Amino acid sequence: MDLKIQKESPEHYQAIHDILISCFKSEAEAKLVSALRENDKAVLALVALHEGEVVGHVMFSPVTTSPPAIALGLGLAPLAVKPAFQRRGIGRKIVQDGLLLCKEMNFDYVVLLGDPKYYQRFGFIKASDLGIKNEYGVDEPFMLIQFNNVPLPDSLVRYCDAFSLFSV
Ligand SMILES: CC(C)(COP(=O)(O)OP(=O)(O)OC[C@H]1O[C@@H](n2cnc3c(N)ncnc32)[C@H](O)[C@@H]1OP(=O)(O)O)[C@@H](O)C(=O)NCCC(=O)NCCS
Repeated sequence: MDLKIQKESPEHYQAIHDILISCFKSEAEAKLVSALRENDKAVLALVALHEGEVVGHVMFSPVTTSPPAIALGLGLAPLAVKPAFQRRGIGRKIVQDGLLLCKEMNFDYVVLLGDPKYYQRFGFIKASDLGIKNEYGVDEPFMLIQFNNVPLPDSLVRYCDAFSLFSV
């Protein structure tokens, strides 16, 4: 299928909002995306375009660790594909391209909270296996991918303030 992945721009915001509303149970993800943009925390945000229509979106924002680490990380959230276009490889393409760009931007790792069955295919592993915890206190769904050997000591990962909208 004709699919183009590119960085989001303001002309896409309404379509992205509509996709987030249709993909998630509440408006929290749509609000999160707006808050991250407003606070200049949308380090990387991509859209998938099919024949010029926005059919997918992903955002990456900074995370920090306690204790602090040399390794620089991003959180992947949210990820959404327009319901009518799901299961056609759009999620796969936008995540793969996003991870490649994160690596090229010299980030060392990416974390996310998601279904392991979906994210394992990209190389994400359970973060607690590497001694990495999260502020939500969840285990299996908190996953991590490292791009290099920059050490990541046992630590607690925190997302940026806009994520206070969420509690698991
Ligand atoms: C998750 C999502 C982004 C996947 O996008 P997609 O374009 O449908 O994904 P792909 O086509 O690349 O991959 C489809 C595969 O993922 C699987 N899959 C989709 N959503 C899944 C989920 N939540 N858990 C596990 N597997 C999932 C499908 O079963 C399919 O598997 P198959 O290839 O073995 O048939 C999309 O379903 C979506 O927007 N869901 C609602 C929002 C959401 O849950 N976002 C993720 C939050 S962590």
